[in-house]
Amino acid sequence: MIGMTKRTILIHPDPRLKKVTDPIAEVNDDIRRLADDMLETMYDAPGIGLAAPQVGVMSRMLVMDCVKEEDVPPRPMVLVNPEITWSSDELNTYEEGCLSIPDQYADVERPAEVEVKWTTLDGETAQEKFDGLWATCVQHEIDHLNGKLFIDYLKPLKRQMITRKMQKLKRERARV
Ligand code: NI
Repeated sequence: MIGMTKRTILIHPDPRLKKVTDPIAEVNDDIRRLADDMLETMYDAPGIGLAAPQVGVMSRMLVMDCVKEEDVPPRPMVLVNPEITWSSDELNTYEEGCLSIPDQYADVERPAEVEVKWTTLDGETAQEKFDGLWATCVQHEIDHLNGKLFIDYLKPLKRQMITRKMQKLKRERARV
């Protein structure tokens, strides 16, 4: 791929991380370039998922790759306008983190399985059922597209504590 560029990941708190994003009307070269850049940025971080608003683009797109096994090839996925069409009643708890909230982790309970419909980079409709880490990841990233962060599931005190740590981190980074 030509000209993949690492983009800057926004750190919470940032108003752009709290906004509902806009649907993507057409998958064009700009969108494909953004997808390449987001994958590059995600793998470099390293992380398993990244949503467009995290790089300051207010569009409904996310990338993810939750392959953990070293002997399994990577599976970079790009989901344009993803929508959850079904969620299991069964829930699952994972310790989540977020590239926009570095080094902070907390247990979040979500549906264990979800079915998601999205548009591919070829402009086609795709649908898939996700479970395990993939299910948690895709729900976490779709939340980003709706201005929601994993810390919004935590008790207010814990959320405030993490937010204060992030404000401090941003001040320290701005000073460098
Ligand atoms: Ni995140």
